[in-house]
Amino acid sequence: MKSSVNDYVIREATAEDHGMIYDFSLIASKDETVPDFLRNAGEFVIKKIEEGRSGVLLAFSDEELAGIVDADILESKIEIRSVYVRKDHRRKGLASHLVNKLMEIYPNKEMVLATAVTEKGKKFWESNGFRVMEWKMVKKMD
Ligand SMILES: CC(C)(COP(=O)(O)OP(=O)(O)OC[C@H]1O[C@@H](n2cnc3c(N)ncnc32)[C@H](O)[C@@H]1OP(=O)(O)O)[C@@H](O)C(=O)NCCC(=O)NCCS
Repeated sequence: MKSSVNDYVIREATAEDHGMIYDFSLIASKDETVPDFLRNAGEFVIKKIEEGRSGVLLAFSDEELAGIVDADILESKIEIRSVYVRKDHRRKGLASHLVNKLMEIYPNKEMVLATAVTEKGKKFWESNGFRVMEWKMVKKMD
């Protein structure tokens, strides 16, 4: 078990990682702490890396995938679409480390936005210096 976030190896995902990310997304899809709207995040991530787009960072613990962050890297901002850390690696600062790495790899942006936020997740974002800027009203059509 890792004792510090610096023990994790973090790197940008490539198209070759698609199998590993698929397996990881199966774990996430069975995780009851994952909100419904993030359950198919793996599909988006796989499509994205297969298209050769950047902004997906992977965190490894002894070559095993422990966490992932998916962000769109735009000219003036970073839009974080999803972040997931495997249950047994939580509360060690790994998700925070992944978010900080994004800002380190893609510096000098005007802002970083988290677009998929749950009530629980809000605490995580707030602890990383994020603040609510805008509420959206949505009518569900089902
Ligand atoms: C949310 C999530 C990514 C956090 O990952 P993590 O690696 O455990 O986060 P960190 O260790 O970097 O947490 C940093 C701080 O955020 C806050 N935080 C993180 N998870 C929290 C939780 N479940 N409840 C309350 N505060 C939380 C704490 O202040 C924490 O610091 P502390 O451990 O010293 O108290 C992880 O729980 C997860 O993958 N959840 C399921 C998917 C999900 O909800 N994604 C985000 C949608 S917004």
